[in-house]
Amino acid sequence: MSGPNTSYDPVEVAALDPQAVDDAVSAALVAASSAGTLDELRAARSAHQGDRSALALANREIGALPPSAKAEAGKRVGQARGRVAAAFAARQAELEAERDERILTEEAVDLTVVPPRRRVGARHPISLVTERVEDIFVGLGWEIAEGPELESEWLNFDALNLGPDHPARQMQDTFFVEPADRSGLVLRTHTSPVQVRTMLDREPPIYVLCPGKVFRTDELDATHTPVFHQFEGLVVDEGITMAHLKGSLDVFVAMLFGAGTVTRLRPSYFPFTEPSAEIDCQCWICSGTDDSCRTCRGTGWIEVGGSGMVNRRVLTASGIDPDHYTGFAFGLGIERSLMLRHGVADMHDIVEGDVRFSTQFGMEI
Ligand code: DAH
Repeated sequence: MSGPNTSYDPVEVAALDPQAVDDAVSAALVAASSAGTLDELRAARSAHQGDRSALALANREIGALPPSAKAEAGKRVGQARGRVAAAFAARQAELEAERDERILTEEAVDLTVVPPRRRVGARHPISLVTERVEDIFVGLGWEIAEGPELESEWLNFDALNLGPDHPARQMQDTFFVEPADRSGLVLRTHTSPVQVRTMLDREPPIYVLCPGKVFRTDELDATHTPVFHQFEGLVVDEGITMAHLKGSLDVFVAMLFGAGTVTRLRPSYFPFTEPSAEIDCQCWICSGTDDSCRTCRGTGWIEVGGSGMVNRRVLTASGIDPDHYTGFAFGLGIERSLMLRHGVADMHDIVEGDVRFSTQFGMEI
């Protein structure tokens, strides 16, 4: 391009001719309004606003005009470019609004549509109950203790004051590990051996809950299963009495079954406790107010487990001085609690592992 020119009239420069500028504007406005998509608009914009567009060329010519002509030509081209820019911006806004509207309609999510069901399984109610019980006792400051399912005969029976000839030893129908007379091993018939393991393992004060699987040679039927679950509680400390046992059980059942539910201790016999008691829980369905209640059979009480003060002989066998420490213990069956609590009529439902059974107990995790 040539340098500034003193006699040059913008009207004589073809690109700056008012008609040419108007034509360029009109063409740009038509192109803007007829662009039907954002892509078309982008192409039109580059043709009418880009570096090689008529108006850009006109703009460039201004620099070569004499100062007297620059103002007028500058104004004309500037206004023209402004109108074109505004037209493109307006069309751009329109097309974007249309696009957004279309996306909102096309991609709308119908929240009322029922999604295809994905089967996700469910946790077994035995696990849920076990964890709830653990949580309650951990909340009271107790610890969880565990022992092996394959247990020594000595811990399962002898240390618990069930000597070889003790009649109760035969009551617990035991799976012995071959060779039965010499292996010294059984599948534990209760969680009570974890008591002994815990006392051998640590010094009082002891506050532990021992949940776990236990085994007996029962046939599977509506009320029995050869593999079931118990939890054992054990407290050994200075000055522990039956009042502590009763208080702990009452706090526990109130937290599991609801405030106000209490327990009742009924005299009984277990070799590992002296004195011993059956634990009855107040009926959580009728609280003893309904003579025809099917859960408690109108008695107002439901037997849930056994308990007592740890027998001196068990303390001694476990290396604890019975003149210094006393303790209480209890054992409850989880299947039985579950059957009573939720009206499960058949043990098969609990052991078969059908997810349709488990899902009824919710998806707590
Ligand atoms: N071990 C007993 C059973 O399996 C239950 C039991 C009773 C546990 C009394 C205890 C207890 O700790 O004190 O039948």
